[in-house]
Amino acid sequence: MKVLSLGGAGFIGSHLTERLLQKNHSVVVVDYYDDKLLELLGHPGLTMLKQDIREENWGLEKLVEDSDVVIDLIAYANPGLYVKMPLEVFDLNFTENLKIAKTCRKLKKRLVQFSTCEVYGKTPASFMNENLMNPTDPAHATFSEDNTNLILGPIGKHRWIYASAKQLLERVLHAYGLEDGFKYCIIRPFNFIGPKIDYLLNETDGIPRVFSYFMDALINGGQMKLVDGGHNLRCYTYIDDAIEAIYRIVQNPNGVCDQEIFNIGSPHNETSIKNLAMLMRDIYANDMWQEGMPDLPEIVAVSSEDFYGRGYEDSDRRIPDITKARNLLEWEPKWNMVSTLKATMNYYVHDYRLHYGLNSLRDHFKHETIVQKIS
Ligand SMILES: NC(=O)c1ccc[n+]([C@@H]2O[C@H](COP(=O)([O-])OP(=O)(O)OC[C@H]3O[C@@H](n4cnc5c(N)ncnc54)[C@H](O)[C@@H]3O)[C@@H](O)[C@H]2O)c1
Repeated sequence: MKVLSLGGAGFIGSHLTERLLQKNHSVVVVDYYDDKLLELLGHPGLTMLKQDIREENWGLEKLVEDSDVVIDLIAYANPGLYVKMPLEVFDLNFTENLKIAKTCRKLKKRLVQFSTCEVYGKTPASFMNENLMNPTDPAHATFSEDNTNLILGPIGKHRWIYASAKQLLERVLHAYGLEDGFKYCIIRPFNFIGPKIDYLLNETDGIPRVFSYFMDALINGGQMKLVDGGHNLRCYTYIDDAIEAIYRIVQNPNGVCDQEIFNIGSPHNETSIKNLAMLMRDIYANDMWQEGMPDLPEIVAVSSEDFYGRGYEDSDRRIPDITKARNLLEWEPKWNMVSTLKATMNYYVHDYRLHYGLNSLRDHFKHETIVQKIS
């Protein structure tokens, strides 16, 4: 297969590119960075184009024409950005992504579109707690692709612009499918973690994907800050499990993924952010910390307004219903929470330095700061 992977050098994209090349597909990656693909550059099956897709006439149509399937992973995907630059988030995650979808529709090419589990928003328990018989029943937070209502917060909580942009794109793809049979598949990832997920440098960069933020505090010192107490619950999914499902979607056996939406996540790995911080600190203290390294960070609570600024709100809980992925893809996630964390943390503590010979992880990720992303 000839695959066009837009945003294919990011966290998910780099792992997917590796899998596609292993399986002898040819891959054209378009991304404005290539650092997460360093080991693969030079592979005969890979073409890497360093390109900002927001530029005019950069050659999208020809690349789509030449491909069998298009995968769109491009997005701003860090909560700090939703609060700091909501319009940039909307423009990239909706307007620019819509151009890709339109081109695929025009040229009748199949599109695998990355959306997000954030489209589900909040659970009914988050706003009618006292009126529910059993508010902690997981049934209230178990989201299925085709039946669950999507509950987002008020406009003044502008962090929801990320989920709104993704949801609107999903609705357009659905309409394309209805009106002219356009072949698309939508993936809703549930908190993937693994090697090459990015780093938070420091608070002023405002890019806290939570695993990276905690890892940075463990390696470089600082505090592990729990936003609003860290009570919200997430289901963490190891990247290898995720890639297995995504690869099956790209293969699309007998067209089973056409015009479908898939939750991809590990329902059994549910944990609160507070528990995530404690687990990571325990693993680090027992398996990784050595004399001379920065002291283990303290875990402290902060308000979301202090941490992110005004306009922040968050999903309280989200559990993927993966019945559809089980049935159509014969997929089952295998990694539990502790092995997921150990594998990912080990990468950052040991392998990363070996691969790249860097003295400082912070130096390497400096170019990913919000300042450079906007400029
Ligand atoms: N990682 C998760 O758990 C998760 C959860 C929900 C949704 N998603 C979605 O999955 C997709 C991939 O996520 P990821 O974690 O790999 O994110 P990522 O930020 O690592 O990857 C996105 C890639 O897009 C590239 N990109 C951004 N703007 C670009 C532009 N203008 N021109 C060219 N390239 C550009 C970035 O350089 C990056 O490599 C995103 O759409 C995201 O919203 C991911």
